[in-house]
Amino acid sequence: MVSRWLRTPGALCSHFRVCHANIVGLRYLLWPPLSLQAAYTAAIRDERKTHPMAYSGKFTAGDRVQLTDAKRRHFTITLEPGASFFTHKGEIKHDDIIGQDEGTVVDSTAGGQYLCFRHLLVDHVLSMPRGAAVIYPKDAAQILVEGDFFPGATVLEAGAGSGAMSMWLLRAVGSTGKLISYEIREDHLAYAEQNVSEYMGGHPENWDLRLGDLKDVRKEDVGEVDRVLLDMLEPWEMLDTVKDILIPGGVFMTYVATVPQLMKVMEGIRETGCFTEPKAWESLVREWKVEGLATRPEHRMNAHTAFLILARRLADGVTAPRPQRRARR
Ligand SMILES: C[S@@+](CC[C@H](N)C(=O)[O-])C[C@H]1O[C@@H](n2cnc3c(N)ncnc32)[C@H](O)[C@@H]1O
Repeated sequence: MVSRWLRTPGALCSHFRVCHANIVGLRYLLWPPLSLQAAYTAAIRDERKTHPMAYSGKFTAGDRVQLTDAKRRHFTITLEPGASFFTHKGEIKHDDIIGQDEGTVVDSTAGGQYLCFRHLLVDHVLSMPRGAAVIYPKDAAQILVEGDFFPGATVLEAGAGSGAMSMWLLRAVGSTGKLISYEIREDHLAYAEQNVSEYMGGHPENWDLRLGDLKDVRKEDVGEVDRVLLDMLEPWEMLDTVKDILIPGGVFMTYVATVPQLMKVMEGIRETGCFTEPKAWESLVREWKVEGLATRPEHRMNAHTAFLILARRLADGVTAPRPQRRARR
């Protein structure tokens, strides 16, 4: 069956997209095993050779389109000339979408109406299959801005996990920059490869995804880097590696979920003597419902995701002036 899918990548994509139709809760159960995922990635890569990834403009064959019905349910399909997508409200012909503008509404044969958009990166990150928990978009935004990830930068990241942060970083450094991502687990590396290749239309040339333990990495393996981002359980174990490869003035950021991790990494950074006093914070985003007199904050929010920590590499041999605290009376 897989070989048939491989010969018709569009069919394979449509099948998995139907399985993966953003049915919350079922998403991860329905996702196929890694061997099938590898076939899926290969199929997408083949398809992209003939249909390069588009992020805007009229829909073309090969685009992944999110269909939203009246009940706000999402279904994602990959456009293929002559193909159809079947819903409980009948058939939608891909040809009715190809050539249309984004934001178009398509009718199914049994009277359903579906709004059509391409996935934004934020949609992809929140709906893609995961091996490891991803950095939440609100935190990714903080990282990119506070960490000053600039076009042309050389960035080291670990672990790659599901590849969510890799995509934000690749966008930030642009084609003149470079991202080196380490991942210790083969299965997570496969997720990262698949998720990034799927959204970016193949493996980006400036992305060096490596299987390995960051702790074993030396300067000769990666050279000097402008920025380091760690998202892993024990970032304090990596500080020797980080201080050797981060350029003076470079920014080190890490992302940890719990208070004991936060305390340990802050102390670890201070003990190296190679960084500025680390700064720690978290970001809270609360959505609002805005409907006439019912306007109010939403009841639910992702109140805690993780803490963000930032420090800058000092020049070698320098001791930073100790931060002065007000004496207690
Ligand atoms: C929370 S996930 C990272 C998620 C990723 N930032 C994303 O947004 O998709 C943490 C990852 O770090 C990896 N990891 C843990 N220790 C590591 C190490 N020493 N070197 C490389 N990767 C490591 C784990 O296998 C796991 O996949």
